[in-house]
Amino acid sequence: MKLHILPTAQDAAKAAADHIAVKVKGGSVRVLGLATGRTPIALYQRLVDHVAGGKLDLRMIESFNLDEYVGLRAEDPCSFHAYMQQHLFSHAPLKHSYLLEGDAEDPFAECDRYEREIRDAGGIDLQLLGIGQNGHIGFNEPESAHDSRTRPVTLNAMTRAANQPDFPGGRTVPEQALTMGIGTILEARVLVLLATGAAKAQALNAALQGAVSLECPASALQAHADLTVFADTEAASRLGPALAAGPQQGA
Ligand code: F6R
Repeated sequence: MKLHILPTAQDAAKAAADHIAVKVKGGSVRVLGLATGRTPIALYQRLVDHVAGGKLDLRMIESFNLDEYVGLRAEDPCSFHAYMQQHLFSHAPLKHSYLLEGDAEDPFAECDRYEREIRDAGGIDLQLLGIGQNGHIGFNEPESAHDSRTRPVTLNAMTRAANQPDFPGGRTVPEQALTMGIGTILEARVLVLLATGAAKAQALNAALQGAVSLECPASALQAHADLTVFADTEAASRLGPALAAGPQQGA
């Protein structure tokens, strides 16, 4: 595992974006796994800036998003489809973007389709991840099996409360979502985790230094052979001295 601790959330997002951009330009990433949430907005902005400046071209890249809310159509402004359009796709065209369809008639068949599409694309070269305050990755809440596949899940109260600001106008966060499984995520050849802000400090510590447990889904990442973590000093504030010793420590 490689850990990069940057002074601010903006710095961490930029460093993670630059790391991804280098891999795309180097040709080792053709299939990119994407995340949503507040954390990667600055990362996408940085990628868009690179594209606008002619330094990066995503037109040969296929993408797979981690998750989507059940019941939301792609056009719904609160959907992750809409988020991706707003923050990346409308500014930096990709070859093809795959997302789970939240309004699929048969959610289980939809998840099977997604697994097939990932396989048919040759697997995910690099998966970008955020982390929930309860240690979730994708929408794999605590107690998710570490070999779980893409499936419908029930969101817990902490996750729904954290995401409520994304549902303005009296709307409530859906109770269910479709998410890549932890097993699916672990099959990506390279993982990049971006964590910023003090609210993530405890989860990041549990993920990187705690026991591998069902209680902290992100602890499953410890088993991955190629994980790079970008954190700001706030998110890294609970890491023990062995990890947090310097700005660019490996472990
Ligand atoms: C989003 C996702 C989630 C988020 C996590 C953190 O696609 O899969 O795991 O990464 O909920 O969200 P933010 O960045 O809003 O704190």
